[in-house]
Amino acid sequence: MQSQELPFIREMFNGIAPRYDFLNRLLSLRQDVIWRKKIVAMLKFPISGRVLDVACGTGDVALEIYRQKGPLVQVAGLDFSQGMLRIAHEKIQKAQCPSIFLLNGDALSLPFGKSTFDAVTIAFGIRNIQNKIDALKAFHDCLVPGGRVLVLELATPRKSRVRDAYMAYFLRVLPAVGRLFSKHHFAYSYLPESVSRFPESDEFMKIMIHAGFTKVSFQRLTLGIANLFVGTKPGEPG
Ligand SMILES: C[S@@+](CC[C@H](N)C(=O)[O-])C[C@H]1O[C@@H](n2cnc3c(N)ncnc32)[C@H](O)[C@@H]1O
Repeated sequence: MQSQELPFIREMFNGIAPRYDFLNRLLSLRQDVIWRKKIVAMLKFPISGRVLDVACGTGDVALEIYRQKGPLVQVAGLDFSQGMLRIAHEKIQKAQCPSIFLLNGDALSLPFGKSTFDAVTIAFGIRNIQNKIDALKAFHDCLVPGGRVLVLELATPRKSRVRDAYMAYFLRVLPAVGRLFSKHHFAYSYLPESVSRFPESDEFMKIMIHAGFTKVSFQRLTLGIANLFVGTKPGEPG
């Protein structure tokens, strides 16, 4: 299913792809690296497990899976931006990771059969997908029973003093620095806007439950600047 938002978001990521990694490290003061290590550390599956990384972007989660879990784990990275996939491909070639496969596709129509993956990850991607329930249902479908979905997403701190300082940075400094280095006029204003539109954590957990996940939980990372949600597809692994 194609929403009107899709081409706009795809073009935006195509436009910022060359500077995406650099700006991630700079604007998050390398917290993004720590958050991806965390999501991967929470993956539990057999030694030769299969993982789908949706909205894989420039491949950082897929590469972290390779680093932490080894070459026997197969990773499929899916994204709809050719620009982001091109960078991912270069990084994967350079790191020599034959167990990572990249696919150009839409999170809302995954080209996989039922029960294909032991885990699905999505880092900073679900915020860009309007129809979250359908996306989560698609992730649920391609998971084995007992398989888990892990969703990493940006948030805003709740404590008021930290929040005030962070919001000043997030709404003013970040868009200006992002614009300067990416030369893209709205991508880094879209970022805080899309984070502010993202459902509250309780609300998002309800959406996960509605999509069929159980044992749904979440944890705040780095003073609540990011959240990590986990859900399990009911049933025993075969
Ligand atoms: C903020 S980036 C995150 C990239 C990567 N996961 C990371 O950790 O840096 C969001 C990515 O989601 C992709 N994306 C957004 N909507 C998508 C959709 N409906 N289907 C596939 N990819 C999508 C974009 O192309 C972009 O690469």
